Amino acid sequence: MCDTKEKLTMKNFIPVNQPLLSGNEKKYLAECVDSGWISSEGPFVKKFEKEFSKRMGRKYGIAVTNGTSAIDAAVEALGIGPGDEVILPTFTIISCILQIKRCGAKPVLVDSDPITWNMDTKQIESKITEKTKAIMVVHIYGLPVDMDPVLNICKKYKLRLIEDTAEMIGQTYKNRPCGTFGDISTVSFYSNKHITTGEGGMILTDDESIAEHCREIRNLYFQEKKRFVHHRLGWNMRMTNIQAALGLAQLERLDEFVKKKRWIGNKYNELLNNLSGVQLPLKKTNYASNIYWVYGLVIEKSLNQDSFEIMKNLSKNNIGCRSFFYPLHQQPVFTKEGLFKEESYPVAEQLYKKGFYLPSGLGITEKQIIKVCEILIKIFKTIEV
Ligand SMILES: Cc1ncc(COP(=O)(O)O)c(C=O)c1O
Repeated sequence: MCDTKEKLTMKNFIPVNQPLLSGNEKKYLAECVDSGWISSEGPFVKKFEKEFSKRMGRKYGIAVTNGTSAIDAAVEALGIGPGDEVILPTFTIISCILQIKRCGAKPVLVDSDPITWNMDTKQIESKITEKTKAIMVVHIYGLPVDMDPVLNICKKYKLRLIEDTAEMIGQTYKNRPCGTFGDISTVSFYSNKHITTGEGGMILTDDESIAEHCREIRNLYFQEKKRFVHHRLGWNMRMTNIQAALGLAQLERLDEFVKKKRWIGNKYNELLNNLSGVQLPLKKTNYASNIYWVYGLVIEKSLNQDSFEIMKNLSKNNIGCRSFFYPLHQQPVFTKEGLFKEESYPVAEQLYKKGFYLPSGLGITEKQIIKVCEILIKIFKTIEV
């Protein structure tokens, strides 16, 4: 919202995200250029797939162009199609629903938990029909979805599980790494993620045939024997050697990055502790401690104020910020065709109206966090109760 090109060049502007690229990134990128390996055929791709999947605790990793395409591939690889239903949260990015819609399946939504902001797992079972084929969980902002109830439901009804781990690289649920729960788990390496390749993503699975299918999907369904003969419509989702080089350098520092994210979150917690009228992110649950992918705030209902005024004000003060997700059931692209008509998900609707997040990229300094908090506290003092 606030980090326009003009602002990014301003000295005092604090962007909503700034990556840390001070490890082996330059060295590995230079290797790409020096060797001429810049396409997806280069050696860094396989190396990154191997190292990343190992770090995440999965057998296979298939590197792709972004987190959205990883989800598209997951839906295709599980054979989801017309007549099938997939349950997912309404409070998420549009990426989660695209291929479900495009393939002719029916997206079935659930609301969020008002405290963790994740999908309310208590609502899932009542949405199951005989057409339900899969559940898609999406870990949001810093805490994972409560996975035990989801796993039980999947087992009970024999459902497939897609786990969107875009925002949760390095997080655990009851000490088990996020990214290990799905029949297919997906990851994003966009520049605001815990590790980045600029744009990029990964599909994770333990199933060899799913892995092989995802490699075919990623590569236009080319066949080995009759290369230019195609039996299905595929995608070009190939990650380049350049992206993988970046990813490998970033992966080397994942533990450090996770620690820094938690440090950023705790610093904000400490400085905003006395700010009234606002819900800070939950520090921990009985299954995880917050990893603060982003530092989100929700303005309490008692304040007659939504997040947009505050974000405008932050922007005027050279501070980058973002609103929370706009719920899927309210997206004009769906409402105009009558999809989700008469459905309401009050928690997600409130989260969009009242939620926003502060600069929380890995490159942020303590001085910048202090400045953000000082300005935010000042802005809140001007709000009439
Ligand atoms: C939960 C979630 N899923 C998927 C994506 C899509 O990833 P990408 O931007 O790499 O396509 C994002 C992006 O931020 C995300 O937050």
